[in-house]
Amino acid sequence: MKPAKIISASLTVLTLAMVSSCTGSEQAKDPAEAKVEKLLSLMTIDEKIGQMSQLDPGTLGSDENLKKAVRDGRLGSLLNYFGTKEVNEIQRIAVEESRLGIPLLIGRDVIHGYKTIFPIPLGMAASWNPGLVKGAFRIAAEEASSQGIKWTFAPMIDITWDPRWGRIAEGCGEDPFLASAMAAAMVHGIQGDSLSDPASMAACAKHYAGYGFSEGGRDYNTTYITEPVLRNVVLKPFKAARDAGALTFMSAFNDLNGIPASGNEFTLRQILRDEWHFDGFVVSDWASVTEMVSHGYAVDEKDAAAKAINAGVDMEMATTSYFDNIKILLAEKKITQKQIDNAVRSILKVKFRLGLFENPYTDPDAARKILDPSFLEHARTMARQSAVLLKNDKNILPLNRSIGSVAVSGPLADAPRDQLGTWCFDGNAANSVTPLKAISDFLGKEKVNFAPGLGYSRDRSEKGFDQALKTAERSDAVIFFAGEEWILSGEGQSRGEINLPGAQDELISLLDKTRIPLIVVIMAGRPLAIGRLLEEADAVIYAWHGGTMAGPAIADLIFGIESPSGKLPVTFIKGSGQIPFYYYRNNTGRPATPGSWTPIDSIPVENPQSSLGYKSFWLDYGYTPLLPFGFGLSYTTFEYSDLSLSDLSMPMNGKLIIKASVQNTGKMDGDEIAQLYLRDRVGSITRPVRELKGFKRIHLEKGEKTEVVFELTSEDLAFFNGKITAAEPGEFDVWIGPDSSNGLHGEFILEK
Ligand code: BGC
Repeated sequence: MKPAKIISASLTVLTLAMVSSCTGSEQAKDPAEAKVEKLLSLMTIDEKIGQMSQLDPGTLGSDENLKKAVRDGRLGSLLNYFGTKEVNEIQRIAVEESRLGIPLLIGRDVIHGYKTIFPIPLGMAASWNPGLVKGAFRIAAEEASSQGIKWTFAPMIDITWDPRWGRIAEGCGEDPFLASAMAAAMVHGIQGDSLSDPASMAACAKHYAGYGFSEGGRDYNTTYITEPVLRNVVLKPFKAARDAGALTFMSAFNDLNGIPASGNEFTLRQILRDEWHFDGFVVSDWASVTEMVSHGYAVDEKDAAAKAINAGVDMEMATTSYFDNIKILLAEKKITQKQIDNAVRSILKVKFRLGLFENPYTDPDAARKILDPSFLEHARTMARQSAVLLKNDKNILPLNRSIGSVAVSGPLADAPRDQLGTWCFDGNAANSVTPLKAISDFLGKEKVNFAPGLGYSRDRSEKGFDQALKTAERSDAVIFFAGEEWILSGEGQSRGEINLPGAQDELISLLDKTRIPLIVVIMAGRPLAIGRLLEEADAVIYAWHGGTMAGPAIADLIFGIESPSGKLPVTFIKGSGQIPFYYYRNNTGRPATPGSWTPIDSIPVENPQSSLGYKSFWLDYGYTPLLPFGFGLSYTTFEYSDLSLSDLSMPMNGKLIIKASVQNTGKMDGDEIAQLYLRDRVGSITRPVRELKGFKRIHLEKGEKTEVVFELTSEDLAFFNGKITAAEPGEFDVWIGPDSSNGLHGEFILEK
């Protein structure tokens, strides 16, 4: 590729010379803007439409068609095209053989790693460690950009309250504050310190907006979201991504309150452009423009294109309604030249900012940094910090490495592809280190008795049970790897029931009856309803789909190289019937309290009408979740004390300092994630029973004590009440504690 680079450099100079001859009055503050204006003035309408079109090469039929489209300036972007050689060649055609030499923007889904696969994003969110997450996305960017990929369709920051929805795996969970912290970290990781760094990619905040509220958790389904929920919950991480500088946004598939998200002027124009002043560009989701015909919002593809352009979708992904119709729509005055110019402007600006005009090529030598040992080490740390300890009866964990032998069982113990999780196009199962391999490496093969019991997660056959039970009986402990195959979560992969699939529960119950200490590690793409095994097992670790290094990370935790430190980024429920169940719900007029509800089996026959108390609960579930948001245990213990507030009241534009002491009172060093929650007792609209407003991951050696300090301003108390966003004076509760259902309590007043 080197000679091409030299030739192209001169052509790039030529384009830039044309572009940089603008007059003083055309000079905008951002140097890219002046260049964009000049280039725009040279473009034909066909070239502009080209910039607004992104295709998967597969849809073009042949390589020749692809090259011709690029040469003719009919394509501004490609997705799913990669490999240094391939990208450099197609880029050479764009830069050297198209009339204006505008480089292509090459995009791909790099969602939780490229070759070094990190835990699924929901798992990464469980680390509550934005710094570590940023590092993971930096590595993903380094690897992917070395293959010519300069744009990733990440971060996926859809809040959801529904674990049936397969795409819960790809997001950061239910909480807007945690998801916002993760969104910013991911954008910073992807885009790096300098956009024009060859190892930086453009980020794409998706799916804007509301996609995670698909009714019934069925993918692509309709969403109804009130404006307060939209602004106070769903849009929060998107605003954080925008503030972190995300260069692009993706418009979602879903129908939002009757208007599909890809034709939604309220979210795309009013909020994103007018209120947030976003100046990157918006790409549609795959065919989400033309799918507005299916939604019944557009008569045909031409109408769909008009609606998307009017709403502010700058680039169409995968379909050709822009390509086919823009000129007709202009002639019919259904769209304006100004709209087209603005869309192209935004796209070109991103290409300039990424440095593509200066250096459109990928250095073939960069390809060496793939699966670098330092990357794998980061993936191991990430997987370790993502895992959440849910139970540890009698401190059965960590296991002593001098243990006689362990039985390794379960369908996920040696499932190299499954542990990579959903949305990993480029990760290779051959690079995965499975728990079986890691435990064998740690203890020595002779101490590990492997009997999976079930061949895969949905397996219903009991033919392996006998061997699993016999193997357990001749071992000192059983480590059972339960969960879901990767294909059971992700796009288009929703479930109605969220229990452990196949006969896993049955086998776990039989193993429990052997009375051999039973440790269950769950590797899944969603929070499963694991009530039964949580009762039976002696210890439970929730490890999600942990990526390439899931095995070593889990072994590190099982044998106490480090204590688990993750906390749940989502409420764990008892069963699908509790959905939606999220911790920041509003109170009811009849909240249930301990003792105020009646379990279904304890109701006497022919009980009178009002005997159950008319409280808000389920006869079969009660009123609490299985495990609260923010929950996670450690091998050590942490004690919270001495909550203090800098004042009893806070002026409207002032601030409040809230502190508490946290001490490691156990026998091992460990990390704790201290969480700050608030409740606004009375509002102009009802307010959540708790909202996360801060968190800190702290490392404490055994015996060590520290102070966690949080600062609140009235901005942190602001919410949208249907009309305006503002903090409202009145009384507030505050908690600092280990999860959303605990903590030291204080109170303060926000003054008028
Ligand atoms: C998904 C997006 C993804 C796009 C491109 C769509 O089906 O919803 O998240 O970025 O495909 O692969």
